[in-house]
Amino acid sequence: MIVPQDAVSAADYERHFHLRVDRGVAAYIGGAGADGITQQANRAAYDCLHLMPRALVDMAGATAASHLLGQPMAYPIIVAPMAHHRLVHPEGEMATAAAASMTGTWMTVSTQASVAVGEVARATRGPLWFQLYAQPRPADTLTLVRRAEDAGCRALVLTIDAPVNGIRNMEQRAGFRLPPGVTTPNLEGLAGDDFVPAHPGSPVFQGMLRTAPTWADVAWLCRQTPLPVLLKGIMNPLDVEPAIAAGARGIIVSNHGGRTLDTLPATLDVLPLVVDAVAGRLPVLVDGGIRRGTDILKALALGARAVMVGRPVLHALAVGGVAGVAHLLTVLQTELEVAMALTGRPTLADVDRTVLHGVAPGA
Ligand code: FNR
Ligand code: LAC
Repeated sequence: MIVPQDAVSAADYERHFHLRVDRGVAAYIGGAGADGITQQANRAAYDCLHLMPRALVDMAGATAASHLLGQPMAYPIIVAPMAHHRLVHPEGEMATAAAASMTGTWMTVSTQASVAVGEVARATRGPLWFQLYAQPRPADTLTLVRRAEDAGCRALVLTIDAPVNGIRNMEQRAGFRLPPGVTTPNLEGLAGDDFVPAHPGSPVFQGMLRTAPTWADVAWLCRQTPLPVLLKGIMNPLDVEPAIAAGARGIIVSNHGGRTLDTLPATLDVLPLVVDAVAGRLPVLVDGGIRRGTDILKALALGARAVMVGRPVLHALAVGGVAGVAHLLTVLQTELEVAMALTGRPTLADVDRTVLHGVAPGA
């Protein structure tokens, strides 16, 4: 696959993606819950926040490197967990992981990946995290944990904001269905949920939510594995204390890219509230709408230790395969470095709220 010459930013990959994939795939990957209000809010929050540069700063020895969970990190960028990469590329997650490792980027493999996590691990030397959806039976959740451990994954990302699917009207209108070749091998051999709701009854409350995880399950999970468990989908600062009490080792502020509950606030707007509640006890990450190096700088300024990038990775995978994803990730790294250089922030330790226009340092 050849990267188009005019693909120089994440937005360009999105444009090319829409020229290449069918309506259903475009709606599934590009779409969001209900009216897409949260998805738009995620982006708008970055656009209306402005940067405040310092002039003539000595940038000798500048670097975007840092540490996360005891591991050195070249850039504070992680590929967000996303289902079904084979929807857009025959090698699916193996191609994404190869591209991520070429650029020193960590990648999160979804429970619903279209390639088994062990196979993804064999295709890359880069660090992998595994995203976990708690299964109706605890034994099945443990099977997934062991598969991730055996694959050498370095952390588990427990997604807590999607015990049921959001209202996916965009997918419904486009008639999206998973094509027959795209499966979920991580879930192979697991029982799933064989529950048949009583009639009359609520398929929501009597179905998946019967077995949806609670704080007690998070505490249980943290005791089952030596891997650090991060919670993905925290939006409310009130959920910080229960997360810490349950044993979480990191928090990912996320509204699932606007794909779950529509009209949730932008992640960037709640990030500082969560960061203040955490008060340095855990690393806080954020995702949703990150498309530029300046977006990454703003998230770090509001206290994120790293960001996760979702849809742009699948756009680049569809458009340019391994080369496309490697190029996209390099573009984001370069944009972050340029943003650090032009705001006069030589290291990530120098990136604080004073790099934002109109945001008080302690706000
Ligand atoms: C997702 N996301 C997601 N999250 C998760 O925890 N497990 C999953 O399997 C998936 N699957 C998934 C599929 C697709 C096609 C998309 C677009 C997203 C959510 C993802 O991890 C992340 O939270 C958002 O995508 C971040 O927002 P942006 O960067 O896409 O705006
Ligand atoms: C999604 C699910 C897989 O967002 O998390 O499509």
